[in-house]
Amino acid sequence: MANSPSGDSVTGRLIRVLETFTPTRTVQTAAEIGRRADLPPSSAHRIVGELVAAGLLERDETNGVRVGMRLWELATRSSRALRLRQVALPPMERVQARIREHTQLAILEQDEALFLERLSAPHSGSNVTRIAGRLPLHACSSGLVLLAHADRETRDRALARPLQRLTISTIVDTAVLHRKLDQIRLAGYADAPGYIEEISTGLAVPIRDMTGEVIAALSVVLPREAATEPALAELFTAAREIDRALAERA
Ligand code: PHB
Repeated sequence: MANSPSGDSVTGRLIRVLETFTPTRTVQTAAEIGRRADLPPSSAHRIVGELVAAGLLERDETNGVRVGMRLWELATRSSRALRLRQVALPPMERVQARIREHTQLAILEQDEALFLERLSAPHSGSNVTRIAGRLPLHACSSGLVLLAHADRETRDRALARPLQRLTISTIVDTAVLHRKLDQIRLAGYADAPGYIEEISTGLAVPIRDMTGEVIAALSVVLPREAATEPALAELFTAAREIDRALAERA
């Protein structure tokens, strides 16, 4: 791959450009992209222009740049997330219709919980998850399920870092988190009352592939004061259904 005079590879610069887009920063000018990607303005304008021409980025009427549909198409088409999401959607819709609160599907990705899907009812409560957004593993119910069932190396790495406090209820003590993960494996679900925002409780159960390996977490976000038993029962039923469908279609 050809390098710039600074020794920066073309791929490296492309990745930095694409990574300036976040769930909350979806439109930027080429100059902002350049600054955030640490590129000289001329390189930023050229790369953005080439990506726009290829359809990977799109320009709106005010010259703002956003991720293009062509990039979405390519990324979605063959992703392992697609099949999992397709299999999980009907049971998720049922959970969401019965519990009438947010229902999410997340996977472990680069030591964070990455949300593939989120269903919400008009009057459901607060929820900080976004589709294609991420949350810290130790601070949400899906992340805790994924961490509890992650391989040893991932778990050690996640626990070796300082655990960020997001509310007064977030677990930030490594020993306490170890005990919580043991309890999650034993109980078969994770609860996260107020861990990421004081007013909500997350509840999550594991989704397993045909070998029994945990590949995702299915969760609901409830108002803090809501009863958890009905939601848990729905989550367990949905997870069994998804596990079965994954095994049948393997
Ligand atoms: C959780 O899964 O613990 C969770 C996620 C998002 C929220 C609240 C709780 O807004």
